[in-house]
Amino acid sequence: MRAEPAQGGILIVGAGLAGLYTALKLAPHPVTLVTAGHLGAGGSSVWAQGGLAAAVGADDSPEEHLADTIAAGAGLVDEEAARILCTEGPARIDDLLSLGVPFDREEDGTLRLGREAAHGRNRIVHVGGDEAGATIMRVLTEKARQTPSITVRERCIAYELLTEDGAVTGAACWDAEAGEALAIPAHETVLATGGTGGLFAVTTNPLHAQGHGLTLAYEAGATLRDLEFVQFHPTGIDIGRDPAPLATEALRGEGAVLRDVHGRRFMPELHPDAELAPRDVVARGVALAIKTTGGAFLDAREAIGARFPKAFPTVFEACREGGIDPRVKPIPIAPAAHYHMGGVLTDTDGRADIPGLWAVGETASTGVHGANRLASNSLLEALVFGARAARALPRNGAKEDGTAAEPALPARPAANLAPLRRAMSDSCGLLRDEAGLTALLSQIEGDRAKTLGGALARTAARLVAEAALARRESRGAHQRTDFPDQDAPRHSLTRKPDGVRFA
Ligand code: SIN
Repeated sequence: MRAEPAQGGILIVGAGLAGLYTALKLAPHPVTLVTAGHLGAGGSSVWAQGGLAAAVGADDSPEEHLADTIAAGAGLVDEEAARILCTEGPARIDDLLSLGVPFDREEDGTLRLGREAAHGRNRIVHVGGDEAGATIMRVLTEKARQTPSITVRERCIAYELLTEDGAVTGAACWDAEAGEALAIPAHETVLATGGTGGLFAVTTNPLHAQGHGLTLAYEAGATLRDLEFVQFHPTGIDIGRDPAPLATEALRGEGAVLRDVHGRRFMPELHPDAELAPRDVVARGVALAIKTTGGAFLDAREAIGARFPKAFPTVFEACREGGIDPRVKPIPIAPAAHYHMGGVLTDTDGRADIPGLWAVGETASTGVHGANRLASNSLLEALVFGARAARALPRNGAKEDGTAAEPALPARPAANLAPLRRAMSDSCGLLRDEAGLTALLSQIEGDRAKTLGGALARTAARLVAEAALARRESRGAHQRTDFPDQDAPRHSLTRKPDGVRFA
C-alpha cells in the first residue's frame, strides 16, 4: 500500500458541512480532508433545505431553544451538550454571515426566521427559501479551495482505521483516482462521514450515506451510542425517485397541511400540534394514512399557492420533475429515512473514547438529539461541535511513519444494496418488533456479498438492527410494537466485542 506524506497529523474523513467547517476552523494548521466524492458535490449537507435553528430572534433565547431541544429528544438529550449547542449557535450563524452566507432577510434587514415542528418560536434561518445547505456548502467549499492548509483528496474512500496499541493512527483509503490503496497516517483522525439513510429503501439522504464511519469506529474499538434512533422525515416526495426528494418541514411551518387519499386532514386527531407535532409522530401519522387509505399528501395550495416557485424553489423543481404542480395539486408523500441520532460516542469537544479518534456532525453522538432530533438542529450541531473539535484537537507535528499493513479489502464494484435496504425499511423502520429484527439480523449475517461498500454498510446495518432489538421499549424515533411502553431513560452503548449494553 502506498503511504501518503503526512500533513501535520490531522486527517478528516468526510467533506460535508461538519468536516469542511472543522478543516476551515483548524486553518492555518494543516489537515488532510478525504472525501469519497468531489469537494462540495455531495453529502446530505448540500441537500439540506430546512436551514439552521438558532436563538437569534429578539423574542427568543438559548434557554427556550434548549427547552424545545430537550422536549423533542424524548428523555435522552444530554443537557450539557444541548446547552452548548443552543448557547454557541448564534455565534456560528455570525461566522457564516461573515463568510458571506446570504441568509434570507425581512424588509427591515433583520434575519427572516421560519418555524418548524416542535419549535416554540420562529427560529430557523434560511437561504433562498429552501437552499440553505447548498448555499452554505458552496460558500465553505470556495473558502476551503482558497485555504492552503487544507489538502483535499477527492474520490478517496476510507475503509479501515489504522491502529497501534489501541490508538487510531490514520486511515487506510481506496484512492479511486489512482486505483490504489493508500495509507494516510495521522496523529488525530476525525470522522465526519454523515449518516445512515442509504441503508434504507426510502431515504432523503445521498445513497452513499451508509454509516461507514460507524463501522470504522466500531472496528477500531470505539463506543457507539443510541444507534437504534433513526429519524424518518414525514414528507419525502413520493414520485419514485431514489433517493426521495424532500418536501421541507418549512412548508408545514407556513401552513401546508397533510391529507389522506380522501382529502381528509388526519393530523389534528393524532396530536394537538397537528402538522407541527414532533417529527416521529407526524411520520407515523403519514405511514398510517398510507396504510389505511392508500396514500398521503402534502397540500400547500392554500397556504403557499402561487408563491411556491419563489419561496421553495428546490421543492418546486422536484415536484415539477415528478409531473406535479404543487400550486394546484397536493404533493404525494411517504416517510423517508432522514437522520441518524445515534453515532460515535463523543464528549462535547468531539473526542471519541479511544485515543486519536474524533467524530463530528451526524456521525457523532454528542447527545444533543436524544431519541428524536429537533428540526434544523443538525447543521447547527455540525458547526458548533466542528468548531469545538477544531479548538480542542492537538496541534501535533507531522507523523513520520507512513507505513501501514496491506489493505484487507481490495477495491471491488459497489455492492447491490437493494435487498439490504428493503429489509432495513421493512424490519428496522418506523415500526419494529422482535420477530422482524431477528429475521433481519439473520438475513444480514447470511448476506455474503463480499464487496467494499457492502462490507462496511452491512456492518453498520447490523449494528443499528442489534441496538433496535436490544431496546425493548418505545421512545422517540424508536417504536417497538411489541414493547409500546417507555422504561427509565437509558442510552444504548455498542462496543466490540461486547455487543449492546445500556447505561
Ligand atoms: C426539513 O427541511 O424539513 C429538514 C430539516 C431538518 O431535517 O432539520
